[in-house]
Amino acid sequence: MSLVAYTGAVFHMTDDPAVVGAEASFQYEADGMLVIDDGTVQACGPRTSLATKLPEDTPVVDHSGNLIIPGFIDTHIHFPQLDMIASFGEQLLDWLERYTFPEEAKFADPAHAGECAEFFITELLRNGTTSALVYGTVHKQSVEALFEAAYKRNMRLIAGKALMDRNVPEGVRDTAAGSDKDNRDLIKRWHGKGRIGYAITPRFAPACSDEQLTLAGKLLAEHPDVLMHTHLSENTSEIDWVKKLYPTAKDYLDVYDRFGLLTDRSVFAHCVHLEGEEFQRMAEADAAISYCPTSNLFLGSGLFNLSEAEKYGVTVGLGTDVGAGTSFSILETMNEAYKICHLRGHRLDPFKSFYLATLGGAKALNIADKIGNFEPGKEADFLVIDGSATPLLERRLKNCSGVDETLFVLSMLGDDRAISHTYVAGECVHSRD
Ligand code: GUN
Ligand code: ZN
Repeated sequence: MSLVAYTGAVFHMTDDPAVVGAEASFQYEADGMLVIDDGTVQACGPRTSLATKLPEDTPVVDHSGNLIIPGFIDTHIHFPQLDMIASFGEQLLDWLERYTFPEEAKFADPAHAGECAEFFITELLRNGTTSALVYGTVHKQSVEALFEAAYKRNMRLIAGKALMDRNVPEGVRDTAAGSDKDNRDLIKRWHGKGRIGYAITPRFAPACSDEQLTLAGKLLAEHPDVLMHTHLSENTSEIDWVKKLYPTAKDYLDVYDRFGLLTDRSVFAHCVHLEGEEFQRMAEADAAISYCPTSNLFLGSGLFNLSEAEKYGVTVGLGTDVGAGTSFSILETMNEAYKICHLRGHRLDPFKSFYLATLGGAKALNIADKIGNFEPGKEADFLVIDGSATPLLERRLKNCSGVDETLFVLSMLGDDRAISHTYVAGECVHSRD
């Protein structure tokens, strides 16, 4: 048994504030303690009461003056898009053709994939993101490289090979049978190894043949704890294209549903243009949405309707969607999420933002029994936020009167500079200084 105690202000979400109300949705200890036993949370509470119960020789790591929160969870990100993030001028379909597919073709080279995977994982941790649901490229070796890099750090990371056997250039195209074999090999080799999980990952309906989607649905049914991860209703030209390809489908969501891909283990990125009825079917299926605000603004895709998702009770997490998204930072992602909600006349309160970034994300990925907050028994993924990271942040935080205001200011002014330490299963994997 290896017991370690961490002191500082401690904050975590215990429920969805949109359901239970803000006051009942979190725990905050200004003078707090987080006790970790062999990589899992043993206790979280006021320092003065927990400290007296610890064996005398328990090491104490002092983060006082800083804020300890659960690790961020990024529910949608593309690791092979590092080298074309911030590409100018196009909306989704042209952006894919002009920038994305040529970049992803480079991942046929395992050495390139390996180098990018190392950078990608380091960048996630530097931003306080301890778990993510990640797209690889069409190449099996891209996912192998990513899993190797995450496994080395003991991260709870879920990823999959992108399935794309039509309407894409040859260098990023697979076949239905080949992709099924790759998926099966990757599941066998990686799913459940350490903290690694697999997600069957059709790129999006226009890039996958009926045969490929049929095999994906069959594989999903065969593996009851594997996820399904794809894109849905992101851009109006994309939606028009899907209508042409599937003229008899009720809507875009129905296309995935026809192939058995609308399940309680399905995560749909974007959902910017969903109609009320589609939200309803998402809720009935207990599927999840990844809300990707920096991407939706960058590609000019539109404004996601979070209050509609809340109304229907759909599970939502936050996604950066790098490289259409413009930042790895979940704090910056919260910032843009707030502004999109504001444009829709909805106030995104800071408790909800931190919920989406932690416990909500864990629920979206079906791993809320393992991570997402500091409930005893959960895996100890957490980070330390330094409120004095920039002069402006430090100055503004001194003028805050409650934890809600502190969290809001952190989400508006914070970024990677505010993440002083990141811990994965109780081990420090990033220290800023
Ligand atoms: N739809 C299909 N592929 C992609 C992608 O790589 N990024 C985004 N944002 N949307 C997609
Ligand atoms: Zn995406």
